[in-house]
Amino acid sequence: MLSISSHLQEKLSQPLKIGSVEVKSRVLQSPLSGVTDLVFRRLVRRYSPNSMMYTEMVSATEIHHLKQLPRLMEIDENEQPISIQLFDCRPDFMAEAAQKAVAEGAKTIDINMGCPVNKITKKGGGSSLLRQPHLAQTLVAEVVKSVEVPVTVKTRIGWDDKEINILEFAQKMEDAGAAMLTLHGRTRAQGYKGNARWEWIKKVKEILTIPVIANGDIFSVEAAINCLEITGADGVMCSRGTLGYPFLVGEIDHFFCTGIKQNKPTPREKLECAKEHLQGLWEYKGKRGIYQARKHLSWYCKEFPGASELRDKVSRIETVEEGYKLLNEAKESLSLINPCS
Ligand SMILES: Cc1cc2nc3c(=O)[nH]c(=O)nc-3n(C[C@H](O)[C@H](O)[C@H](O)COP(=O)(O)O)c2cc1C
Repeated sequence: MLSISSHLQEKLSQPLKIGSVEVKSRVLQSPLSGVTDLVFRRLVRRYSPNSMMYTEMVSATEIHHLKQLPRLMEIDENEQPISIQLFDCRPDFMAEAAQKAVAEGAKTIDINMGCPVNKITKKGGGSSLLRQPHLAQTLVAEVVKSVEVPVTVKTRIGWDDKEINILEFAQKMEDAGAAMLTLHGRTRAQGYKGNARWEWIKKVKEILTIPVIANGDIFSVEAAINCLEITGADGVMCSRGTLGYPFLVGEIDHFFCTGIKQNKPTPREKLECAKEHLQGLWEYKGKRGIYQARKHLSWYCKEFPGASELRDKVSRIETVEEGYKLLNEAKESLSLINPCS
């Protein structure tokens, strides 16, 4: 039995307030570049009707220069609440991009200050803003001035172990008008390695008045509860735990709402979901969707007999039919091994 302190229980019974926006769920689906497109979000939304979703990060410079908005900003009319995540280091481009994002239907604007990828940090975006706190503050203030929806920030604890500056940085974000801070408990230098250091999330929560969302290593209901108990954060954001597993946000939310742990999907249910994911990507993106589906399908193939062979095959598919055939065969052989699987 998982136990929850009465303090946490009380918090979970209340909506998450992001400035003027109220969200019924305290579990959020993170922005994941190359993953959280409209097709993936539809699957997550099915299992978690109330959670906040994020688009993949979008470059404000690109939005400024392109005649048409990038497809990454496309939002289904029924997928609210959803935030569009922007990255850049130019306050004027960010303000302009934020206005366009709101016109597309974004309920909040999220600013990426955590991406560790060189291509982004070299141009002054993502986690490199941790080293430019004044510019980061100006960015937030300019975006806040330009739109009526709440503006939020997602960042890391610091550049590296020698430069863990999140306490001062987080305070600056709040002072500049950010309505919520999501904190990934790793440094930029850590990338995705090592444990997320939730102790820093606790320290930040203690000094801010805006909601703080804990991110990093939320792979299960147990981890979500444990993280909230340790950090006192206002919610959790799931990331890598959702790769090939769009059920996670809903599973955690169900427990937060009811105190009951749902049964996990069976391997056959996961493969059925993989088929839908493949079909969705094909319909939405055509051939490019098939190539993107390869990685998604291989993420679905784990923890059942024959998973590693299947992983190998699905990561080379050329057509939707090929993918369907492989997934159907795997489903059949699983039902021969165990009709309830
Ligand atoms: C494939 C991948 C893509 C990501 N893309 C984004 C992104 O577009 N924006 C962002 O803020 N974070 C992005 N992240 C970081 C995650 O949102 C999250 O902060 C990080 O994975 C830590 O959580 P985890 O330990 O639960 O995975 C990405 C991470 C991965 C693995």
